[in-house]
Amino acid sequence: MNVIIVGGGIAGLTAALRADALGHRVTLLVKGALGDGCTAHAQGGVAGAYGPGDSPALHALDTLQAGDGHGDPLAITALVDGAHAAIAALVDAGVAFDRTADGDIARGLEAAHSRPRIAHAGGDATGAAISTALLSRLRTSTVRVREHVFVADALTCADRVIGIRSIDGAEVRADAVVLATGGAGQLYTHTTNPAGTTGDGIAIAVRAGAAIADLEFVQFHPTVLAGAKPFLISEAVRGAGAVLRDATGRRFMLDEHPDAELAPRDVVARAVARRAAAQAAPVALDATGLGATVLADRFPTIDAELRRRGIDWSRHPVPVTPAAHYLMGGIATDIDGRTSVPGLWAVGETARTGVHGANRLASNSLLEGAVFGARAAESLTSSATPSFRWPEASPPHRRDGGRDRPGATSAAPTDPSFSRSALQRLMWNQLGLIRTDHGMRDAVAQLHAWTAPSPTSPTAHEDANLLAVGRALASAALSRTDSLGAHSLLSPALMGAA
Ligand code: SIN
Repeated sequence: MNVIIVGGGIAGLTAALRADALGHRVTLLVKGALGDGCTAHAQGGVAGAYGPGDSPALHALDTLQAGDGHGDPLAITALVDGAHAAIAALVDAGVAFDRTADGDIARGLEAAHSRPRIAHAGGDATGAAISTALLSRLRTSTVRVREHVFVADALTCADRVIGIRSIDGAEVRADAVVLATGGAGQLYTHTTNPAGTTGDGIAIAVRAGAAIADLEFVQFHPTVLAGAKPFLISEAVRGAGAVLRDATGRRFMLDEHPDAELAPRDVVARAVARRAAAQAAPVALDATGLGATVLADRFPTIDAELRRRGIDWSRHPVPVTPAAHYLMGGIATDIDGRTSVPGLWAVGETARTGVHGANRLASNSLLEGAVFGARAAESLTSSATPSFRWPEASPPHRRDGGRDRPGATSAAPTDPSFSRSALQRLMWNQLGLIRTDHGMRDAVAQLHAWTAPSPTSPTAHEDANLLAVGRALASAALSRTDSLGAHSLLSPALMGAA
């Protein structure tokens, strides 16, 4: 079978290598250079219940609870049950996970995990270790790799995907197309994601008529170094004992959740944002209790970057702020990566498998890419139809900003001309960590008032994709009238009090 895989992170590489091993003719297309994407930046690790006292059932429960009960139990079971094989496959590909003195894989703790179960490599350089190993495996495979190919659209015929078209107009036919293009962090002013994360796969899938779900759930990472150039400080640092302090030095998370700094990520991110707003200054991550040696040995990447920026975190707490980090929703798939359009698969962050619910559990994303990348490759020749009832689609896009809603005031667009920075500001202000009904209505109206930029350059293509994903995200958010997980609405009562 001729297979095109779009995207070179853990999900795309796993799918490509597995499909190649199964004898398919695989072409891997990446928008930039191999290794450019999010995977290589991942710090925390890969979650997997492989230690004593742990079990896939406990991992599943943590995943479901962190997702505020919105996750799909079938998909979560596939994820946690697949962890052992996925981690073994990564070891086999050459990933040198950190080991204990006994030679077992060392297990770190991260927020909302009831057990330490995060496999990490190079301390806090897990993504880089995985990317390097899989790329080296790629070089010994028969996968044809094409870098700097920006896929514009899926080619369709009789409601089936039959290949892709790149932005320069080249068409490539295939029996199956697998989208593994990552998330859309560039929708927001502040993000941990690299520059290329512009929602391309989701926009392609929308145009191809595929079902999309849960886009309203955007994860903001709570501890990104505050300042000009965002830099993630891994949740594993809090897992190792670092705490969050407000301007008075108080551990404010103790007032917020019984698990304090290790509460689910959406809870911590909102608390950090609220406290920073109240004190008009960022809160601080205090890792001084861990000591210089532990910080340098366990978190060498973070340690080196902070020192490069002149910060000695072994002596001083560091200012942190939330930033957009991960999209829980995306292209709706079954547990084998099939989308609602025959011939089209989606894996990794671009997919909505249902594992993350309304808020992803830490270190389940690399795991998802590895598990579902492999499952998708294995399902390519199966004639099965999706084993899944598609999540209910959001209501059609509310181009009017929902002005018909009782009590709604008019939502008139105020910004006549589109720019990426204006889009990012709008998304950050109205579709960020804490949302209001009127803010979302204004955003929907503005997003539909903007004309998509003419696709005259790669950047303009990215902008058009971001606008398409922003519209779908805003529409999904406006349709969800109660808070759930990362979709957090400020109640009218609180707004009146503000
Ligand atoms: C982190 O290291 O805090 C990020 C890991 C993740 O997003 O799961």
